[in-house]
Amino acid sequence: MTRSAQSQRPEASLPPAAEHPFLLACRREESPFTPVWLMRQAGRYLPEYRRVRERLSFLELCGRSDLAAEVTVTAAERLGVDAAIIFADILLPLVPMGVGLRYEKGDGPRIEQPIRMAADVDRLTPVSVEESLAFVAETVRLSRAGLNGKVPLIGFAGAPFTVASYLIEGGSSRMHVTTKVLMQRDALTWQRLMERIVDVTADYLNMQIAAGVDAVQLFDSWVGCLSPRDYQRHVLPYTKRLISALRPGVPVIHFGTMTGSLLELMRDAGGDVVGLDWRVEIDEAWQRLGPEVGVQGNLDPALLFADAAEIRRAVREMLARAGSRPGYIANLGHGVLPETPVDNVLAFVDAVHEYGRR
Ligand code: CP3
Repeated sequence: MTRSAQSQRPEASLPPAAEHPFLLACRREESPFTPVWLMRQAGRYLPEYRRVRERLSFLELCGRSDLAAEVTVTAAERLGVDAAIIFADILLPLVPMGVGLRYEKGDGPRIEQPIRMAADVDRLTPVSVEESLAFVAETVRLSRAGLNGKVPLIGFAGAPFTVASYLIEGGSSRMHVTTKVLMQRDALTWQRLMERIVDVTADYLNMQIAAGVDAVQLFDSWVGCLSPRDYQRHVLPYTKRLISALRPGVPVIHFGTMTGSLLELMRDAGGDVVGLDWRVEIDEAWQRLGPEVGVQGNLDPALLFADAAEIRRAVREMLARAGSRPGYIANLGHGVLPETPVDNVLAFVDAVHEYGRR
């Protein structure tokens, strides 16, 4: 099959929203084919995205709900995936907190006034997400309208640890030493910071849910740097509190990377689906997690730089490991890398649809 502009999803007509394969899989119900989407599917690897981004900065684009929705819908349509994700960022709630968030070309987010001690937590501006992040709710409404019921819409936020790590490190970090030291040395400041983040994040996600997202994903992208003991003591109670503060009935996907030693604890924090990276095998991970959760993942994003034949082989193996148990959502093990060839992303989606029919 040649495949240029748009992909064909296996089903011919639209199922009712709740019957969509992505939402069936979130609820661990049988579905006619394996649903697939990609983290960072609306990003720099897509020429359509780069064209929109040429005219404005990343934060300006997030603030333009009409363009943000266009980016979300274009990516979902172009790829033929089974879910769309809103165009926003896990760090947007930090803007109204007043810590001086900027996105810099090349080295990602920077925070001018990082959190290092109790007084820094005290000066965080109290946030009303309905006021300061209303544009995200508008992006949800416009994305939904643009998708027109074709595929479900995913909302998202950062999980408390990953958001705290940006606030404390002041940007991206490899070892997260400053975060770990604060967590160990100043338990009270850690607790107060995590509680602030939980409250804002719960409001942020409940606002997205009220505006119409069908599911939410929590990105705990960097939590894999912690020992199980530290996760249990310093992270699990907060993530658990956050998830239990979300409006019930909306599936929660709980994702992190390098979490091979934390999976059971992440499951215990709550959520319907655990997101896996490529460092674990799906069958072994799911065995450990047990039948009460679904799983999502987990192709190595670097494999999308290989050729179509290798991608198809890797997808086939991934689906074989996932098996036929309901509750599996195909995805990468982390976000699409910026230089990824679009044709290879299409090959990935097509291969899941081809090999994932029931
Ligand atoms: O398509 C989608 O998945 C939706 C949009 C989305 C973005 N960020 C847009 C974005 C999502 C789901 C995120 C989540 C996010 N943001 C995470 C968790 C996912 C992960 O990768 O672990 C993290 C850690 C962030 C924080 C963040 N935002 C970083 C580290 C960066 C810079 C990194 C980079 O790729 O340059 C951003 C900026 C950002 N967020 C971009 C996009 C498309 C790139 C901005 C640009 O230059 O256009």
